[in-house]
Amino acid sequence: MKLTSFSRSLLGAAILTLCAGNASAAEKVTLKLAHNLERSHVVHKAFEQMAKEVKELSHGNMQIRIYPSSQMGSARETMELLQNGALDMTKGSASDLESFDNVYAIYNLPYLFKNQQHFNNVVYGEVGKEIMNSTKDKGFFTMAAYVAGTRSFYAKKPITKPEDLKGMKIRVQASPTTLKMIELMGGSPTPISFGEVYTAMQQGVVDGAENNVPSWVQTRHIEIAKVFSEDEHTSIPDFLVMSTKTWNKLTPEQQQILAKAATDSEVYEQKLWDEVDKESREKATSMGATFVKVDKAPFRAAVKPLYDDFAKDPKQAALLAKFEAAAPQ
Ligand code: GCU
Repeated sequence: MKLTSFSRSLLGAAILTLCAGNASAAEKVTLKLAHNLERSHVVHKAFEQMAKEVKELSHGNMQIRIYPSSQMGSARETMELLQNGALDMTKGSASDLESFDNVYAIYNLPYLFKNQQHFNNVVYGEVGKEIMNSTKDKGFFTMAAYVAGTRSFYAKKPITKPEDLKGMKIRVQASPTTLKMIELMGGSPTPISFGEVYTAMQQGVVDGAENNVPSWVQTRHIEIAKVFSEDEHTSIPDFLVMSTKTWNKLTPEQQQILAKAATDSEVYEQKLWDEVDKESREKATSMGATFVKVDKAPFRAAVKPLYDDFAKDPKQAALLAKFEAAAPQ
């Protein structure tokens, strides 16, 4: 359920009252949040905004200390730290989270959403929330979801049909669904953590990768792989991951503050995303990179077996039906 702006402001007011009443009694807490994105990434900026809001709403009693740029390790490593109790929060894309709970696999299906509205209806709607709250018994759940555009292939040469991927090693995130997707399309998937892709491309360990435009540009992969072929195979959200153990230690007031700041950070990130996507495209063109239009039909056809597999698993099939029902008419 999405909060209306009225109920949001009521919640805000309630939080402020609670904080004012409890300020002196409140316990001080510092939460550690580590992730693998650079400081320039919009999700990092959304986290900074969230930390600021949490500090303000708690009158300094709650702080979030952010460790960006894989300082505490890859997405997989920070998830493990979180599950072991060494970290309170991290960022995981649905691809990273798939190995920690299969419920996130669905977001890695290619050509899942009809358009941006469909994505929003799912991710910020009832089924999206159901997914976010469903993993508490695994030691984590997700508190905010962030748009991350659409992912396409980039390499030194255009990739306009599945046959072009033949013999190409493509860097992917460690998602079993994505690995299968690349195989079905005809390429060789190579899982590598985000922070190590530049070197892998430079050394020719992989021949290409796939990501959204801002990540292609910000990571400077564009310097090596100048052709971006827009087959737009996936739209995979990023998530703010919270440790269940840490969450249970917070007071109800602290939980409310954090939940509000996390929801507000979604709105903030969405606004920044649209700007950075446009800027990144302009920058790419000015760097002499090229965007190639792609007929998606053969790519869609190649990945159909992934959907057939999903349909065989009753749990996944039920989830998929909910995703489809959320499509705009
Ligand atoms: C995107 C996404 C990140 C992810 C990265 C990757 O940039 O926003 O969360 O880590 O892709 O390909 O690893």
